[in-house]
Amino acid sequence: MTQYAPGCFMNAVGLTNPGADEAAQQFANLEVPEDRFLLCSIFGGSIEEIVEVAEKLAPFSDGLELNLSCPHAKGYGMDMGQDANLVKEITQAVKAVVNVPVIPKLTPNVPNIGEIASAAAEGGADALCAINTVGPVYYTAHGHPILTNTLGGMSGKSVLPIALKCVREIRQAVDLPIIGCGGISSADNVRAFEKEGAIVFGIGSALTGMNSASLAEYFTAIESDLVGESNLSEQLVHYDVPMDFESYTLVKNEKVTDDISILTFDGKLHVKPGEFVFTWIPGLGEKPFSALTDDPFSLVVIDVGIFTSNLIDLEPGSEVLVRGTYGTALEPTGKRVMAVAGGTGLAAVFQIARDFGNATIFMGARSKDRLYFSDECRDIAEVRIATDDGSEGYHGLVTELLRETLEGMDDLDSVVFYNCGPAPMVQAAEAVQRDFVGNDQVFSAIDYLTKCGVGICGACHCPDGRRICVDGPFINSS
Ligand SMILES: Cc1cc2nc3c(=O)[nH]c(=O)nc-3n(C[C@H](O)[C@H](O)[C@H](O)COP(=O)(O)OP(=O)(O)OC[C@H]3O[C@@H](n4cnc5c(N)ncnc54)[C@H](O)[C@@H]3O)c2cc1C
Ligand SMILES: Cc1cc2nc3c(=O)[nH]c(=O)nc-3n(C[C@H](O)[C@H](O)[C@H](O)COP(=O)(O)O)c2cc1C
Ligand code: FES
Repeated sequence: MTQYAPGCFMNAVGLTNPGADEAAQQFANLEVPEDRFLLCSIFGGSIEEIVEVAEKLAPFSDGLELNLSCPHAKGYGMDMGQDANLVKEITQAVKAVVNVPVIPKLTPNVPNIGEIASAAAEGGADALCAINTVGPVYYTAHGHPILTNTLGGMSGKSVLPIALKCVREIRQAVDLPIIGCGGISSADNVRAFEKEGAIVFGIGSALTGMNSASLAEYFTAIESDLVGESNLSEQLVHYDVPMDFESYTLVKNEKVTDDISILTFDGKLHVKPGEFVFTWIPGLGEKPFSALTDDPFSLVVIDVGIFTSNLIDLEPGSEVLVRGTYGTALEPTGKRVMAVAGGTGLAAVFQIARDFGNATIFMGARSKDRLYFSDECRDIAEVRIATDDGSEGYHGLVTELLRETLEGMDDLDSVVFYNCGPAPMVQAAEAVQRDFVGNDQVFSAIDYLTKCGVGICGACHCPDGRRICVDGPFINSS
């Protein structure tokens, strides 16, 4: 996903989903409040497949939205939704097997959306939704297409006039309830859709950059605007989310081991403790990283796949493109910092220890040769090292060293813990810490799959639903 002007987006998220069976299982565990409606968006590559998915998900849904409109998933979505006969057939086929409302979602990328709306109505649609994204379109930065898919669908502010026109044309063609969406960011936008005939309203792109607390605040504000006569909620939209890329040149690549490198770049990056960035290598993609240091900007990278193996092999003089910063910056609490780092987790905790002061860093590694940056850590904090093979420091796991240290301490109320590293290490560290302090003193960052970085794709959700790119990456384990 990218933002080519404030509030104007383009994405090729590509209908990411866990599959109908897994989705059905997840829905079965959802507790949907009595006064809420769970509309489940489904798609398929053929009528048969759509029907099969509908049968699987209808028992867990209050309604099914048929995605006949995604512009960047070849063979799906819009490829079907541009054909009026197919729209009618699909709607009919789904209606025949489910007994919840069926709501085709229409594409604006047709010469006559009224004709498609009429076909859906003939097929028995209970309501319609419009619009999906506009396009596909194309955009570049630093001379390269930003989206790995090259083409994507346009959303946000720039599609609002198109969406209003579509809703108007649908209303003229059919008498079904309409869910209106496309570029809504304010109560006045909702009123404009209402005037054209929509009765339910969808907001997507305007939520970019909002964490869970700001989402709740925004929806409360827009509701209060709509109940009254005001138009204040748009002030809460984050039009300043940074999605442009800055160019950095690599000046030093220090190999720690075959699979770990410290990369130092030619400039400074304004990154606060707890925040992270995306590094983009055109043609290869982009991936999230913590900055080891801000001035000069440096990264520590461990090779786990295609992107990281290319990154650790970059020669000095190479350009990398960086966007961000993202995540919620941490604030000093005044308490003593105890940071537990494994692997490249040190990158996430170094600035915390440096900037918040009074810190102890627990560094864990398999063996001495995999330790890095320990002198720099000793300059800013007390350092305790554990290696699995005993080649340096404590012989054993860093979490065992942590437990022994905590057993010898009193006044643990004045300590706050920050953990970052492989998930098993983080979970083990949390378990030790919880034996000594309350959950409110324990913060951890786990590398959940992070794609957009701005809270809109949902990829990075942790088990309780928080999105780590906006609510974290350090989250309180309570
Ligand atoms: C907030 C945050 C900070 C991070 N900081 C660092 C760091 O300082 N140094 C470092 O070496 N690594 C860091 N990572 C992890 C790094 O992003 C992944 O190792 C990298 O994306 C792997 O890409 P790949 O193509 O090399 O591997 P792939 O072959 O794509 O995947 C290998 C494994 O890497 C992980 N991974 C892949 N894609 C992502 C993704 N988009 N987001 C998260 N994990 C992914 C998965 O566990 C996957 O199984 C961080 C991740 C997050 C979310
Ligand atoms: C990142 C992103 C992912 C989207 N994924 C889907 C999708 O899976 N299915 C769908 O029907 N629409 C999808 N859309 C389209 C939105 O639901 C919405 O129709 C469109 O973005 C216009 O509304 P907006 O301007 O408020 O975002 C997506 C939009 C964005 C920005
Ligand atoms: S919501 Fe997209 S990565 Fe967090």
